[in-house]
Parts: sequence; structure tokens; C-alpha cells
Amino acid sequence: MAKLSVLGSINVDHLMQVGAAPRGGQTIQAKQYQIVAGGKGANQAVAAAKLGADVAMIACIGTDAIGEQMKQGLADIGIDTKGITTITGENTGVAMIYVEDSGENRIGIWPGANASLTETVMSEHKASIQDSDLLLLQLETPVETLVAAAKIAKAAGTRVVLNPAPAKALPEALLSNVDIITPNETEAEQLTGVAISELSDADMAANKLHTKFGIETVLITLGERGVWLSHKGEGKHIAGFVMQAIDTTAAGDTFNGGFVTGLLEGQSMLDSVRFGQAAAALSVTRMGAQSSIPTRVETLALLA
Ligand code: RIB
Repeated sequence: MAKLSVLGSINVDHLMQVGAAPRGGQTIQAKQYQIVAGGKGANQAVAAAKLGADVAMIACIGTDAIGEQMKQGLADIGIDTKGITTITGENTGVAMIYVEDSGENRIGIWPGANASLTETVMSEHKASIQDSDLLLLQLETPVETLVAAAKIAKAAGTRVVLNPAPAKALPEALLSNVDIITPNETEAEQLTGVAISELSDADMAANKLHTKFGIETVLITLGERGVWLSHKGEGKHIAGFVMQAIDTTAAGDTFNGGFVTGLLEGQSMLDSVRFGQAAAALSVTRMGAQSSIPTRVETLALLA
């Protein structure tokens, strides 16, 4: 079976369900509170594993008990956790999340041990990247490490997929080593300067990413409007599934995990996008990050 390496963050998500997030100076009481497993890297690894991929994770946790529990949780669903390093004296990454009645969320993160995923720590697991068919990256760990990992992958013929979330400016050294990029509208604007309201804007942003950095495939996620898929400058719109969202946390992560799983199985680009979209659509109907990710059986049922 084709192999996936995910290099990225592990967070403990503190989730509060509220009518609306508090304004400045306001204190509100939540309707519900939960601690759930999260972090963009771990969410994407879990999505891929639940949807059928063979996954290894490269990440860092702190010396706290919850970090160990989260690592065990990843191992329990079959993810290879040998690349997860425990950082002495650090806490595991944390995310504070308000989920509003509309399903929208507001998230603040403290990186903790994620900030210690240095090039040196990553290099100890470079064989995992070299042995993989695909490397999946996000932006909650140091960018210099992502650059080094993408270069290792490129040299080994491992395909590099970058989900550039959360939005930040990125060096050419990273973008020029990426094969497929999956920004949402905000992230695409951050990288290209093109504000996306129409599909023609998505096409323009995608073309900038093709021509400026040589990225072969650009996939801009447009929320409920679906996805703009542009391969070597040939763009097309792929409509999404319409669902009643209760929590959109990790919908993007679920999409990325599903999309790369489809690619690794040899599905076409279009079918891989649909597979990711179906999984993400189911995830927004449930609370939490990893707790909301559907199984392969559920995802195939929605697609059918
Ligand atoms: O993408 C959702 C994730 O973002 C949450 O799980 C939280 O940990 C933050 O990293």
C-alpha cells in the first residue's frame, strides 16, 4: 500500500460551544466544554488513516500526560508514531476554540512542543519521508523545518502536498518544492494578493501559484461553494456537498486527509477531491476535531 508521511502539529483542543464568541470585555458561559484531540497535522493524519491510508506521523509532544494520551490515540488507529518526539520541559500544543451556534469557530493556539519540531528533530526521521509516496505539510510547526523536509522529499521523489494553514507569508524555498497546494480563500489571498470572491479570482490566484513557484496543482477550497481545482493552468470548479454545519473545526484537515488518501489509492484528481469533500462534509455535522472525522464506510456511503 502507498505510504503517507504527515509532518505537523499535535494540539490539545479546549472546545467551548457558545451562542456567539465573547466581545472585548465580555464574559460568557459556554453551553458545553470538551477536551478533544486536535492540531492540524494530527487531524490530517487521523483523517487519512480513518479513510484508509498507511500513515506515519512526524511531530512533537510535551512531557505532559495528555501528550502521551494523544500519541497513544494516534497509534490506536494504526498511525506509525515512531516519528513523534517528546520534548523535555515543554507542554503539548494547545488550542482554545469557541464554536458558535452558526458552526463557525474562533481559534487561538499556543504551539508548545510543536515549536520544537526543528530541522534536527525532523532529520532523525528523514527515512520516513524518503520511504513515503507523499509528504503532507501544514503551517503549525517551524517553516524552516518544512523547507528542509520538502527538499528531502523532492530529492527522494516523494510528492509534496502543502496545506498552507493557518495563513502566513511563506518563503519561495518552500513553495518552489511543493507539488500540490491546498489553500482556502484567505490563505490563497495571503500567498497571491488576489482577494477571492468570484471563481475567476480563484483562477487568477491559482495561475499566480503555477507561474511564480512552479506548483503543478492548485486546489483552492471555497467553503460551501466547493473547490477550484487547477492543474497546470487548466482550472475547473467542483461543487461541494451542502450540509447543516454544527462545527466546522477540522473540516479543512479532513478534506486534506481524504484528498491525499484518494491520490495514494490511485484515484483521479477529481475523484480524490470528491472523496475529501465527502469526508469534510460529514465532519461539519459533528463536534470537535478528530472526534468529527468520519470513517471510510461513512464517506463512501455519502458519495454513493
Ligand atoms: O484545523 C483545526 C485545528 O486547528 C484544531 O484542531 C486546532 O488544534 C488548531 O490547530
